[in-house]
Amino acid sequence: MEKKQIQVLIETALAQLPFAYTPYSGFKVGAALLTKDGSIYTGCNIENAAYTPTNCAERTAFFKAVSEGIREFQAICIVGGKDGVPAEYTAPCGVCRQVMMEFCDPDTFQIILAIDPDRYKIYTLKELLPMGFGPLNLS
Ligand code: THU
Repeated sequence: MEKKQIQVLIETALAQLPFAYTPYSGFKVGAALLTKDGSIYTGCNIENAAYTPTNCAERTAFFKAVSEGIREFQAICIVGGKDGVPAEYTAPCGVCRQVMMEFCDPDTFQIILAIDPDRYKIYTLKELLPMGFGPLNLS
């Protein structure tokens, strides 16, 4: 993946932090999901007074894209931090990794964890979800 594209994804994910609805945890997360045709779907976390209906930023981005007919993805960038200030890498929760497993090739899908445009790490989905259970297991 080109450096320029990584920078765009990081900046786009950071720009989502103000939209995160986090009255309970104060932990804001932003995501930028790159489709195979080069467009970007954004997401933020959306909390709920009943707690469990909370939706993570990553799933918000995936569900926005899938609900518009997009099912092929290249990469996702994730940023997060208390009060919307990223200080450490924010890794996707297990539920979000499983949603990625539904739509992405674990060998090639790139997960970019970022703090700012100069500090980021890239993993494949397979690295973050080894031996994942996915659609192929049911075919
Ligand atoms: N959260 C995300 O949005 N993505 C992650 O990868 C980790 C956790 C959210 C859920 C909740 O709103 C807050 O962060 C604290 O768990």
